Amino acid sequence: MKEYYQIAIDGPSGAGKSTVAKAVAGRLGAEYIDTGAMYRAVGYKMAANGIGMGDAEGLEAMLADTEIDFAHGKVMLDGIDISGGIRTEAISKMASDCSAIPAVREKLVALQRAMGDKKNVVMDGRDIGSNVFPDARFKFYLTASPEERARRRYLEMKEGGADVGYGQVLADIEARDFNDSSRELNPLAVSEDAVVIDSTDMSAAEVADRIIMIVGKGG
Ligand code: DC
Repeated sequence: MKEYYQIAIDGPSGAGKSTVAKAVAGRLGAEYIDTGAMYRAVGYKMAANGIGMGDAEGLEAMLADTEIDFAHGKVMLDGIDISGGIRTEAISKMASDCSAIPAVREKLVALQRAMGDKKNVVMDGRDIGSNVFPDARFKFYLTASPEERARRRYLEMKEGGADVGYGQVLADIEARDFNDSSRELNPLAVSEDAVVIDSTDMSAAEVADRIIMIVGKGG
């Protein structure tokens, strides 16, 4: 059986993981897998079906009847492209909340492992190097100061026409950091064998270059 490689890029919200992971995957000819989008898809479907975080039975039934996949970089939920509807603050919060539920993680981690076992992947998330692929060939932890992450997110939202204040964006980022790192199951954490990159003063292109250089050298 052919062995594939996985490149794990973990880190907090707004550190630039998806831009960097996409660029690295493109340059290596590997597939980019945005695992945050998978948690967002579950949060999106829960919201659409009125399933609350405490509704274990409803959630179990929903998960048993849920397909999540990627097609040409788009997240497909039950065969429908929902990429356009999962980047709102409401869905960010749903995704962060549902990602603490064991049944949700179990389903998505199994899907992620299956995806990474059949092709070369660059996967970004929170627990890829620590839990999904503990034997990944390359592990990176990408971070930046909360203020810089909020600044990037704020500019992005403004550009998209959202009516938001920087203070609110920073508060949301800090709340999500807390949520993602304090949950019991596979929290956001730096694996001890990950290369940590602080992108506070780096562009996404510079981060991608550094990763490609490390990967090219074999670690
Ligand atoms: O990367 P993102 O902001 O799109 O992720 C949305 C949420 O999903 C985030 O708050 C935490 C959760 N998540 C996770 O728990 N594990 C992952 N591997 C990826 C995301």
